[in-house]
Amino acid sequence: MSQPIILVLNGPNLNMLGLREPEIYGHTTLADIEAMCRARADELGFDIDFRQSNHEGELVEWIQQARGKVAGVVINAAAYTHTSVAIHDALKLLDKTPIAEIHISNPKEREEFRHFSYIESLAFTHILGQGAKGYVMAIEAIAKKINESL
Ligand code: DQA
Repeated sequence: MSQPIILVLNGPNLNMLGLREPEIYGHTTLADIEAMCRARADELGFDIDFRQSNHEGELVEWIQQARGKVAGVVINAAAYTHTSVAIHDALKLLDKTPIAEIHISNPKEREEFRHFSYIESLAFTHILGQGAKGYVMAIEAIAKKINESL
């Protein structure tokens, strides 16, 4: 039987995790994170649709396609967090679908240009600065939120 789907969206440069500024983002690769998400979601009775793009429009299209099809969205929009009205608007189309915002580092404690998030106001939870395990925390938070609303 198919299980409800949690869409996990990753923005630009997250495909380079492991190589990218390991002093900030650690050594865990995006493939490792995907495996962690799948394992935890499976225990909680959810399927994962795990995606990464370096292109804003592709992320927008995936969010539009998710409308009515996914039970929840975990999003690390990476740099687009701080710039993208288009991703903000697309997420709004998801109506009541719960959204969890996650960042590996804590952008609020970094450069000023990372302090504002276009996603913050749309997400019911914000997991910042917990490293790769923040993704698992986000999956757990989404699963709890979905189960509460059933
Ligand atoms: C990030 C934080 C963003 O400011 C940055 O642009 C990223 C990664 C994080 O996961 O800590 O690419 O979203």
